[in-house]
Amino acid sequence: MVNLTIDGKQVKVGKTATIYEAAQEAGIHIPVLCYAKKLLPYGACRVCLVEVEQMKGRLIPSCTTPVTEGMVVTTSTPEIVKVRKTVLEFLLVNHVIECPVCDKGGECDLQDLTYEFGLSTNRFEGEKFALPTDEINPLIERNMNRCVLCGKCARVCDEIVAYGSYSFINRGFESKIATAFDRGLNCEFCGQCVSMCPVGAILPRPFKFKARPWQLKEVDSVCGYCGNGCTVTLGVLGDKVETIRFNDKTGVNDGNLCIRGRFGYSYVNSGDRLTKPLLRKDGQLVEVDWKEAIDAVVDGFGKARTEKGLGILSGARLTNEELFLLKNLAQTLGTGNLDHSGGECYKGLTEGLKETLGVTASTATFPQVEECDVILAIRSDFYETHPVFGMVVNQAVKRHGAKLLVVSDKKGKFTKLPNAQTLLNAPGLEVNVLNAMAQTLLEENLAVIDGVDGSAEFKISLTDYTPEIVAKQTGVAADAIREAARKLAAAKKSAILLAYGLPYTGASRELGIAAANLAILTGSAGRQGSGLYICGEKANSQGAVDLGILPAGGALGAQGMLKAAAAGDLSALYVVGEDPLSSYPDRDQVEAALEKASFVVVQDIFLTPTAEKADVVLPAVSFAEKDGTFTNAERRLQRVRRGIPSPGDAKSDFAIFEMLAARCGSPVKYTGPAAVFTEITASIPEYAGISFDSIGPKGIVWGGETLAPARKKVLPAAGGKASEGPFTLVTGSALYHSGTVSTRAKGPMAVVSEPYIELAREDASALKVNEGDLLTVKGNGAEIKLKARIGTRLPKGVLFAPYHFGGAGINRLYKGQTAVAVQLSK
Ligand code: SF4
Ligand code: SF4
Ligand code: SF4
Ligand code: FES
Repeated sequence: MVNLTIDGKQVKVGKTATIYEAAQEAGIHIPVLCYAKKLLPYGACRVCLVEVEQMKGRLIPSCTTPVTEGMVVTTSTPEIVKVRKTVLEFLLVNHVIECPVCDKGGECDLQDLTYEFGLSTNRFEGEKFALPTDEINPLIERNMNRCVLCGKCARVCDEIVAYGSYSFINRGFESKIATAFDRGLNCEFCGQCVSMCPVGAILPRPFKFKARPWQLKEVDSVCGYCGNGCTVTLGVLGDKVETIRFNDKTGVNDGNLCIRGRFGYSYVNSGDRLTKPLLRKDGQLVEVDWKEAIDAVVDGFGKARTEKGLGILSGARLTNEELFLLKNLAQTLGTGNLDHSGGECYKGLTEGLKETLGVTASTATFPQVEECDVILAIRSDFYETHPVFGMVVNQAVKRHGAKLLVVSDKKGKFTKLPNAQTLLNAPGLEVNVLNAMAQTLLEENLAVIDGVDGSAEFKISLTDYTPEIVAKQTGVAADAIREAARKLAAAKKSAILLAYGLPYTGASRELGIAAANLAILTGSAGRQGSGLYICGEKANSQGAVDLGILPAGGALGAQGMLKAAAAGDLSALYVVGEDPLSSYPDRDQVEAALEKASFVVVQDIFLTPTAEKADVVLPAVSFAEKDGTFTNAERRLQRVRRGIPSPGDAKSDFAIFEMLAARCGSPVKYTGPAAVFTEITASIPEYAGISFDSIGPKGIVWGGETLAPARKKVLPAAGGKASEGPFTLVTGSALYHSGTVSTRAKGPMAVVSEPYIELAREDASALKVNEGDLLTVKGNGAEIKLKARIGTRLPKGVLFAPYHFGGAGINRLYKGQTAVAVQLSK
């Protein structure tokens, strides 16, 4: 610790603090413009100048100067104020004065400073800029006439997002922030630069002219998209969410968001939302009241119970409280056929983790990854599945020098990070590579085997997975595999990251086991600062695992239910918050199941393709219209808060489950989410001791920051075989979308509005394919047409198509395998 005096006040702070940070801790105000907590010190604007007794004679920037023992600082003298005023005058020399129409009015740092320093006239005169505004893209507007050259946009895009869109160009008066070749912005559209810009130079277009900040009611909640669980602040005006505002005081995301969280909210205000229950009459879905709809559901489920039974397919964007009620409802309805993993993804993974580690969740928290020296990312470039977690990894690599290993079938943003090594395997063969890494650990005596069960049998199972054998199967060099294993073993703090979700279904049990084996053998699971991270696709995927939304006692999982229904062996299906027809593997099977089941109920916020096939459609509400909790991929419980009323007669899943349970004879009644949460903590040991009201701005991580595995048992994991054929198709998440809901949101749709098939440049030139050409993809007994997108991240022969767009029919080709052999033609 360091002792110093600021404005006569004794202050004690950490050694690495700057004067500005020390002043902040002591509650002393120093104005800043180019400073941001999460960015590296920069010192460009000079607004924060202070005087230090030991450095008499000049003023120094407080935001970049580290504290030293005995320092005596003065933050405000007439001279300092005069200098700050002059700095502002300089900034305003060329700056346009257009506050009345600038959307930043009321939350602009320059405006606030001008006011603070009483600057009503300017002694200096200069030419005003007249630069054109960049309005090329639909999400971010750039008006460089308002720019104060603080560099925050360029710094955040490089330091945190790792995209590097901007840099300073020109010199002197002509200096400005621009993209490469001064073109329009075309990037990830995460909007970090928007949230960092202290003035109105970079603005979010969807929010433009919607509301002045003081008109908005702010409601802190959690992003409804992925398992990262970023905190968002809904800006509510009337009954609409008009903005999503970043908030760096709550949650784990440090105010960082991705395009989905920042610009993907508009679906909640959509005019297409379901507002009334629908019942099929004479072949048509017609609006009815809730009583008639619930009567029909109770009647239909009742019949199903006496016939061939009922299956429940749930989405993982319901709150924990809703999932708890759903589980109880399933019991009341007498069915154990309950699942939230469309293609067995969570079911398999959960089973694998239970057998090896005895815990079915990440063993550590996200911030710890920033301090890791080696990070292994499996199958996903996290920038696409969990973008804000990707930013944490970026900082671990760039700021702390972590080594990054990626085992995946395609290159990604991670590949480009310094120190990154991508082990590019033939599609679907990640398990083989992980097995070979485990083999190296054991062979070279690098593995932790004390207290580990099953290592002898495991070692024998790896005979077929030497790096040489696996190199031939997967295309990853044997040396690279050995090197990766050694790096992981040598790390003091290591993180193994595994992303999971509907499109990652093939071999999920094996993949879970193979990742857990490595976590055990390297001592990563349960070690302080290290961990195995299981990152679910949806906002409450982890909650669904914790609450047991999985088949009970030998009952059917999602695929089992669909298969049974398609064969006429299951009478009814209850689909809640999911659109299997669009997003589950094997669309033909889903179609057959929906057709053959004698009674189908869909509960959703839109009339999805699945809902169109239902007998009863129940209108539910979005994350912005409900209260409760989500559990993110690091086991963090966070509060979801209602910002707007539900449209029309739509009701929360909570209310619908309660109504149904009451009608089906359940005597239990709750007063709301808090009461259900109390029940959850009583019945789920991991959640014991947590109260609803104690979940504060940073959430509560169940099991603590580091979760000790309940057991350590290494198990054989069966690897795959490379698919045969000229091309192999893999599906998955695309950065701009999440599940199928984002395809109803204007922001993501403005960037990626239709399905596509991505192929390698060399394949494109061999087939004489140009960007946007319509291609025919044939495989697994199906044929679909998709527009070509040509890129550099895919190896020759590998194709990628995102799974989000129902109409494209990717799931006609993709039936749950790790990869599909296909033919491709123009
Ligand atoms: S939106 Fe994101 S990726 Fe694009 S320039 Fe801004 S910070 Fe960079
Ligand atoms: S555009 Fe905004 S964030 Fe970027 S340098 Fe200018 S004022 Fe700073
Ligand atoms: S989609 Fe995921 S990473 Fe993006 S803002 Fe939402 S929770 Fe964060
Ligand atoms: S805030 Fe310190 S120099 Fe800009």
